[in-house]
Parts: sequence; structure tokens; C-alpha cells
Amino acid sequence: MKKHKIAVIAGDGIGPEVIREAMKVLAVTEVSFKSTTFDISGERYLRDGCLLDQATLGELRDFDAILFGAIGDPKIQPSILERGIILRLRFELDLYINERPVRGIAPGQSKVHEFIVIRENTEGAYVGEGGSLRRDTDFEVATQGSVNTAFGVERCIRYAFGLANSRARRHLTLVHKTNILQYSGYLWQRIFDKVAKEFPSVTTAYFHVDAACMYLVNDPYRFDVIVTDNLFGDIITDLSAVISGGIGRAASANLNPMRTGPSLFEPVHGSAPDIVGKGVADPTAAILSAGLMLNFLGEVKAAAKINNACEEKIIGSTTEIGDQIALRVTNS
Ligand code: IPM
Ligand code: MN
Repeated sequence: MKKHKIAVIAGDGIGPEVIREAMKVLAVTEVSFKSTTFDISGERYLRDGCLLDQATLGELRDFDAILFGAIGDPKIQPSILERGIILRLRFELDLYINERPVRGIAPGQSKVHEFIVIRENTEGAYVGEGGSLRRDTDFEVATQGSVNTAFGVERCIRYAFGLANSRARRHLTLVHKTNILQYSGYLWQRIFDKVAKEFPSVTTAYFHVDAACMYLVNDPYRFDVIVTDNLFGDIITDLSAVISGGIGRAASANLNPMRTGPSLFEPVHGSAPDIVGKGVADPTAAILSAGLMLNFLGEVKAAAKINNACEEKIIGSTTEIGDQIALRVTNS
């Protein structure tokens, strides 16, 4: 039995609260692992100015997987922690796929929908291209670009086709805004159409992101796998979460499909400073993320147990929900 090396970064806000429950659930599975905790957080940054240094990054590369809570602190200017920690991990570890499974019953609907969003995770508006001139004056100029490379787009689209091809429905939807974003949209559409030819058994669709938002709410059944760019993927996965039982249940996998280093698993939600310490954060998203991690590590039986244990929404405090899920895993 392989002993998996897992790095744990609980982070800020409710991160530590939900990660504690995820660790509790991992502990009751039959999976053999050794976890190492890393102090990477806004709190640490306020204390000693350190975000994520080269040495720590080097250490992290030797792990089999990273379980991540959340980062974000209202005392710190927006983008410092995001760029310095989570985006740095995504970029440096080349976690180019952000896979976000979605399952639930949308408000006003009666049937369960189930689909997966594949969000490109290393390019787009997230790379920080651009700059500002004449800052803090009335004549300030700001540009913020979106970087799309043929290589980056193709590997993401290829992954999405492969995934769609392995599923019962074999359907893949490209979401973009080709009617306005003529350069990046053209690239995404052209590569999508090219790769589609290699997957004749996958049926395809295209929606502009605004229309996709409408369908997510009033007809989520039309989706099986969605592939989209980094920023659109960020936005539609929050919407996908609220049509599926809430942000407290949305899990994600930041994947390096080549397995040249660890992949990172984290809830879709943030640090939620407004509810820190109240014991009301739903740990289900963190627990489901731990399940995605086990699945990626090849521990499919334990992963399925976690997934099943989270199926039904549990009402209770953070620890009560964790206890209940752990009990269900133990008894399954
Ligand atoms: C997410 C989060 C992050 C993102 C933030 C915290 C940088 O919203 O994982 O969806 O925008 O990707
Ligand atoms: Mn987000």
C-alpha cells in the first residue's frame, strides 16, 4: 500500500476550520498517508512578510498532492495574497486544469443536474499582463490583458475532450465570448474545432458566456462537460455552485495532468472572514476536495466513499458536519 505524501496549506479565515474536518475524514479512510502542514497564509504575511518563497515551493514539489483551504485577508490589499500564493502555486506547479464538478438541484428545478467545468488555470486575465500610468490621478490609465497561447489553449481543450469522451453523454460545450473577444475567441474556437475532429464520438456545443449563465440557471441539463478560459471559468463556477446546493459544497481540483509534480485540491469558496470562528462554515467543499485528491491519487474506493458520504446535505455546525461525514465514511 502506497503511503501518499500530502502537503496541507490551511491558509486564512475559515480555511483552517474546514481543512480540520477534511483531515478528520481522510483519517477514517483506509488510505495510508503522511501529511505535512505548511504555514502559508495572510496571517504569516502580516507577521514576517513572507508569502511563498522559492525554498518552500521546492519542498512542495516533492509531495504527491496539496490540500489547500483558502487565502484572503481584509487587512491585506487585494491581489497580494492571491497573486503571491494561490496563483503562484497554480502557475509554478503548472496546474493547467481547474476541474470543478457540479451536481445538485437548481432552485425552481426538480431533477438533479450533473456536469463538470474545465477551467483553464494558467493563462487568460490571471497572468497579470498590463499596467497603469499616472496612478492615483484623474488621468490614470489602466490596461489588463488576457494572455491566450495556442499551446495553453490546446492542452486545456484536449483534456476536456478526453474527459468528455470518457463519460456516458460524451458532450462538450465551449463557453467564451467570441462575438466580442475576436482574437482570443478566434483562437479558442479554432483549436476547439480542430481537436473536435479527433473525437468524433463527442458531440459539441458553443455558448457565449452570458447565454451560458442563463442556461446554467434555467436549463443546466444541457451541460455535460464545459471548457472555458480562466476568468469565465472562475465566474461560471460560482454560479454553478449556487445552483447546486451552495458554495459550501463546491470542490475543485487544480491538476497537473502530466503528473510532473503535485496537484492541488481546494474548495471553490474563499476565506469568508465574515464567518470566521463562528463554527458555521460548511466543510463539505473541503471534504469533497479531499475526495477529489484521493481519486487523483488512485484511491478510487476511498474517494467514492467520501463522495457518497457527502451526497446528502447535513445541517449542523462545522464540526458536526465533519463528524457526520466521517461516521458515514467509517460505516461504508
Ligand atoms: C477561485 C478563487 C480564486 C480565483 C481567487 C482566490 C484568486 O476565486 O479559486 O475560484 O479567482 O481563481
Ligand atoms: Mn472563484
